[in-house]
Amino acid sequence: MGAPYNLPADWKVVWITGASSGIGREIALRLAASGVKVAVSARSVEKLRELEAASPSIKAYPLDVVDLAATHAAADAIARDLGPIDLALLNAGVWHPMSAVTYDAASVTNALAVNYTGVTNALSPLLPAMIARRAGHIAIVSSVAGYRGLPVAIAYAPTKAALISLAESLYPDLLDENVKLTIVNPGFIDTPMTKVNTFPMPFMVTTEDAADRIIKGLIKAPFEIVFPFRMKLLAKFSRVLPYRAYFGFINTLPSDEGPTKT
Ligand SMILES: NC(=O)c1ccc[n+]([C@@H]2O[C@H](COP(=O)([O-])OP(=O)(O)OC[C@H]3O[C@@H](n4cnc5c(N)ncnc54)[C@H](OP(=O)(O)O)[C@@H]3O)[C@@H](O)[C@H]2O)c1
Repeated sequence: MGAPYNLPADWKVVWITGASSGIGREIALRLAASGVKVAVSARSVEKLRELEAASPSIKAYPLDVVDLAATHAAADAIARDLGPIDLALLNAGVWHPMSAVTYDAASVTNALAVNYTGVTNALSPLLPAMIARRAGHIAIVSSVAGYRGLPVAIAYAPTKAALISLAESLYPDLLDENVKLTIVNPGFIDTPMTKVNTFPMPFMVTTEDAADRIIKGLIKAPFEIVFPFRMKLLAKFSRVLPYRAYFGFINTLPSDEGPTKT
């Protein structure tokens, strides 16, 4: 895992949603090893208990982020048990690959509920608490898949685009309130989420590498963290392409499974 991080002094309590696996779990372990109290949330109680057992600095708050009342209860319990939340990493997410031919409305609704409403639910307790303290940092995990529509990401990409728009909409207000906001837009990461994919995933990074980049990025608190560099270039470039050129580019990608999900 490497040496502990030199974290900002005001990171005493961190809340991570989607912490039972993948990058949420890895970031929880790394922050706990650096001396921060880490509250971890997800639905898988057993996996959260394993995380608790791995570090005395980790405490589990099982939660389905779709449930607004439960989200308030979890945030209240964290503040009561550990202290005010200094950094919230809103990371819970689901990936339901589908094409127009395999379109499934229930999966689209679920992706929207978890990936987007899961974040807006968490904002409900976080914003008033952080604004009242004029302190705190909210980090929302989106994806470069939110930059433009992607065929196999019919259920997923729109939720990530919505998160980017949400962050852009919140940022100016939160600047005035001295609350930091960061949108995290990774490319492909080798986590349980991407294990189901059979299409090529260019520039994929390991979970450990992604966690390291996210933590180091959050320490600097920019508006956006986007990585790896080659995916950043490709994604930023695709974002400014006119439609004809963009769809031409999409057509060059493998067509049997569709192009991409990040
Ligand atoms: N892997 C990639 O290539 C990639 C790229 C860009 C962005 N991302 C984003 O990174 C984030 C983490 O993904 P990952 O790759 O680490 O995938 P992962 O290993 O599948 O982790 C997803 C996490 O979300 C949690 N989750 C799912 N539904 C939930 C719900 N209703 N309530 C609470 N927690 C829920 C899962 O826990 P439970 O199932 O226990 O609830 C799990 O802890 C996601 O937002 C994903 O979209 C991933």
